[in-house]
Amino acid sequence: MTKVESHTGSVGVVETQIVQIELPPGGLQLECGRSLPRLDVGYETYGELSPARDNVVFLCHALTGSAHAAGRHDPDDETDPAWWDEMIGPGKGIDTDYYHVVCANILGGCRGTTGPKSTNPGTGHPYGSGFPPITVGDMVAVHQLLLRHLGIERVAAVIGGSFGGMQVLEWAIRYPDTVDRCICVASAASLSAQALAFDAVARGTITSDPDWQGGDYYESLRGPARGLAQARKIGHITYLSPEMMHSKFGRERRESEGAAGPDAGSHFRTDFQVESYLDYQGGKLVKRFDANSYLHITRAMDEYDVIEGHDRLEEALAPVSAKVLVVALSDDWLFPPEQSKELAMGLLRSGKNVSYCGLHAPHGHDAFLVDVEYLAEAIRAFLPWVGEKPKARHSLGEAPARRQGVVTRREFDIVVDMVRPDSRVLDVGCGTGELLSLLAGERNTTGMGVDIDVRHLIDVVDSGHDIFQCDIDAGLAMIPDGAYDYAVLSETLQVVRKPRFVLQEMLRVAKEGIVTFPNFGKWRHRLSLGLKGRMPKGGAIPFEWYDTPNIHLFTLRDFGELCREDGIDIVDVVCLPEGIVSRCLVGIRACNLGADRVIVKIARRDAAGPGPRSDIECRTLRG
Ligand code: COA
Repeated sequence: MTKVESHTGSVGVVETQIVQIELPPGGLQLECGRSLPRLDVGYETYGELSPARDNVVFLCHALTGSAHAAGRHDPDDETDPAWWDEMIGPGKGIDTDYYHVVCANILGGCRGTTGPKSTNPGTGHPYGSGFPPITVGDMVAVHQLLLRHLGIERVAAVIGGSFGGMQVLEWAIRYPDTVDRCICVASAASLSAQALAFDAVARGTITSDPDWQGGDYYESLRGPARGLAQARKIGHITYLSPEMMHSKFGRERRESEGAAGPDAGSHFRTDFQVESYLDYQGGKLVKRFDANSYLHITRAMDEYDVIEGHDRLEEALAPVSAKVLVVALSDDWLFPPEQSKELAMGLLRSGKNVSYCGLHAPHGHDAFLVDVEYLAEAIRAFLPWVGEKPKARHSLGEAPARRQGVVTRREFDIVVDMVRPDSRVLDVGCGTGELLSLLAGERNTTGMGVDIDVRHLIDVVDSGHDIFQCDIDAGLAMIPDGAYDYAVLSETLQVVRKPRFVLQEMLRVAKEGIVTFPNFGKWRHRLSLGLKGRMPKGGAIPFEWYDTPNIHLFTLRDFGELCREDGIDIVDVVCLPEGIVSRCLVGIRACNLGADRVIVKIARRDAAGPGPRSDIECRTLRG
């Protein structure tokens, strides 16, 4: 990259470099069995490469992307915008003050890397129909060759959205030793039948355009512009959510452009804005993309299937050693969030370090290219900083502290005491991840958090832990039975809609559970309601009744009874009293009256059915 000038937040003016990669005598061997005698790769870089060469972030572009991911080719030219300028630059999600970003045009492309329009050295003419079929594996092999050419052995991270995410996966599976972290945004382990259908129709519009000429159009005066534009229009429909399409255009019409053209079909054109928009987008792609590249790349994308050759996804993902962040976009119907979740679950079942993030993205699939709230923050937090890592910044103020500050350090210390060293812990409702950090620091535990709030997710990945963003009330289906030694539920049971189900789920995924909660049976709360007729407030319940997250009010004794009914053993109970009266009450074993907060270790009872009625044996702590 020649960095001519630099703007705040921009990498400035850049240019695409094209290198010829040195190949062995047989050329570049492709998965189809054929080979390419010459390989050129177009790439751009942004940010300085560190002396240790350990700050490289490689970007894998989507279907019609290019090496031009950030900055401008010409200060005054806006016709070739970089596809991820929002994300890359000083202070941005992928911060070029820290990282050396490399983005290469993919094999089969038309923006510098060898593809169907390149000259075939054997004939001296463009490949056209003679270009061999390519796969995602071939594309990633070319990424590897480029890095070797640049003298880079290992990258800090590989990031890709959409089809780029598939390349990221292939990289993580095939070249696990060359990457530390992977980020897949709005992607999947394979395309859905619906997405395959759209691609098939799009390819059909190109190949049925007479100007395609069987793929050998480069040396003629005509090319399949109409077919390619039509293919793009079909694709573009899938990039926007129905709501975004509606809000952009509704049924609005443009000014009439007068009489219809000579083409009979033009009588059937409408003046709806959406048609004009699709025409515009189709025409725009024709100016910068090649129809044969579109055919080859969509076919490679359609054929890609991580699970191929394996019985289960987790088996296919077994070679992955990088930490992975999977990001799903809520209103993406091309790569639906369920597919991203499936991928994250496959990684989890395969025992990998994975975090799953579901972002609100009303725009649809294209949201990752435009502006999706928290995406930059999530990426920034997940990337392994070289040097001192700045704290994650939330775009909308501070994340709410775990349970809004109601958890005390003392409570965490007791939880830590209950956990064996070197065990695996799942922190259910993990908040900003303080407990995970404390456990890792003091008990050398490994594990993961679960939380619904994306701001918590950013803090947790920023601290280096894994987290699965989901609603605990929907269950922990992504986690296999018995995957953890402990499942911790700290100050959360009273805020979930289905506490009974959540407890069952905890004891399905872990051998033991540790539950902490405020005790609504405390004497002061009873007095407040009984004598004053007011809902209790104070101590472990700092909220007004109209402003409380607590939807299930229960006492220590209630909890004990639920455990008895549901076949749960209470292994250990620690009561935390607040104030002299409470301490005295707990001292004489009147725990349900004295305890402000309770920490209970539970386990599944071996024998089925409710256990015998018995008082809960509390352990009190001094100090
Ligand atoms: N008639 C004609 N043109 C119209 C129009 C109408 N009724 N309404 C908007 N446009 C034009 C605008 O003038 C603007 O032109 P410009 O891009 O030359 O400035 C363009 O359409 C705006 O497009 P829009 O989709 O509304 O912009 P966006 O900010 O929401 O999205 C992109 C930006 C780059 C993501 C999007 O335009 C795009 O190209 N998406 C495809 C990217 C892609 O390949 N995704 C697939 C990943 S696999």
